[in-house]
Amino acid sequence: MIKASDFGKNFLWGVAVAAAQIEGAADLYGKGPSIWDTFSKKAGNACNFYHSFKEDIALVKLLGFPLFRFSISWPRLLPKGTGTVNEEGIRFYHEVIDECLRQDILPYVTLYHWDLPDALEQEGGWTSFGINNAFNEFVTLCASEYGDKVTNWIILNEPFGFTSLGYMLGIHAPGKTGVTNFFSAVHHAAIAQADGGRIIRAEVGRANIGTTFSCSEVIPYTQSDSDLLAAKRIDTLMNRLFVEPLMGMGYPTADWELLEKFAISHSTWRHTSRLTFDFDFIGLQNYFPLTVKYNAFVPVIQAWEVKAKNRKKPHTAMGWEVNPNSFYNIIKQFAAYPGIKNLMITENGAYYKDIISTDKHIHDTERIAYFESHLTALLKLKNEGINISGYMAWTLMDNFEWAEGFQARFGLVHNNFKTQERIIKDSGYWFKDFLAR
Ligand code: GAL
Repeated sequence: MIKASDFGKNFLWGVAVAAAQIEGAADLYGKGPSIWDTFSKKAGNACNFYHSFKEDIALVKLLGFPLFRFSISWPRLLPKGTGTVNEEGIRFYHEVIDECLRQDILPYVTLYHWDLPDALEQEGGWTSFGINNAFNEFVTLCASEYGDKVTNWIILNEPFGFTSLGYMLGIHAPGKTGVTNFFSAVHHAAIAQADGGRIIRAEVGRANIGTTFSCSEVIPYTQSDSDLLAAKRIDTLMNRLFVEPLMGMGYPTADWELLEKFAISHSTWRHTSRLTFDFDFIGLQNYFPLTVKYNAFVPVIQAWEVKAKNRKKPHTAMGWEVNPNSFYNIIKQFAAYPGIKNLMITENGAYYKDIISTDKHIHDTERIAYFESHLTALLKLKNEGINISGYMAWTLMDNFEWAEGFQARFGLVHNNFKTQERIIKDSGYWFKDFLAR
């Protein structure tokens, strides 16, 4: 049976959360509205972490995780995105960090996990060039406030996630659509990830700096030329768009003519030096692979996903295919970039329909199997010499799962959103046992 000690004693084990998904107090204590408050208005009190962070950090401790990854809400510190600072917000994250340190938990701080101040969205959000100055102001503020206590920093959470879902497909906040919005947002986010790294490097001594990428192995449905090319386009978009400019390789325009066209019309896309930064670690977040086939009716990408369910493959309640071999393959794909020195898995996890037994237990055996199989694949990579230094499970407790609301539960700890009662699931106990051995 796999155990944490198989990964060596320096391997870092953590559990991840994000401000907008757990904090609640969305319009309290001086916080300004974020795009998620305006877009969905549904997060409400979420997990009430704002008031229960001490108990929740104690849960991290109880489960045996030495590391806690959480994010700072930009509109809680800067209600309008720039300018006036909300001192209560500043104080809150001091308290969260201090509590981690008091309980001997290593804080990993994410600077942007999707809760853009709504005031900035009114000016175009990530599509506007002005976003970069605003983001840099926020990063500088965080560095000066928390830099003497926090060593480990993550600049962006999944830039492909928030630019595609929020600015192209309109499924996530701010609900914008279209290719032009998307590519503008991409470029500004690509600048932000590198600028953010530079600011933390300059302002925080001995900082360990990373940023995260979503990634999915892209598998062609058949070996036909059209399916192979469709898979290549999706891979370019989902896996290469942000990491390659960061590595100094520029945008992967050669492999997708539409990207090349956009690059030609936007001369700043050629300015690669501002897009590069030498991160100490790259965070990878993986949940599922994608099987795709050519489809002429899909605008722009002309590709379509063939769902796991339709292929009769194992999948989570989200419909996402469970495939630890693909987890292995996609990490290998990223590890092959010479510029990546060190990888961490900064998110991985699964939503299954949990059932609470009458004696208040949650026997989430499918989630345990998911973690076990993915960790086995990870160990294989590590033993093959891939430089992976840590793993963070998604997520501590059931929370506000973006467009899915409170329906999709990914937690190791169950949350009753009415009473805020927390119940450790069997998967939480499984991790506790795994980490102790
Ligand atoms: C990630 C995101 C997390 C969480 C997770 C599960 O893309 O960073 O905030 O929602 O997916 O869907």
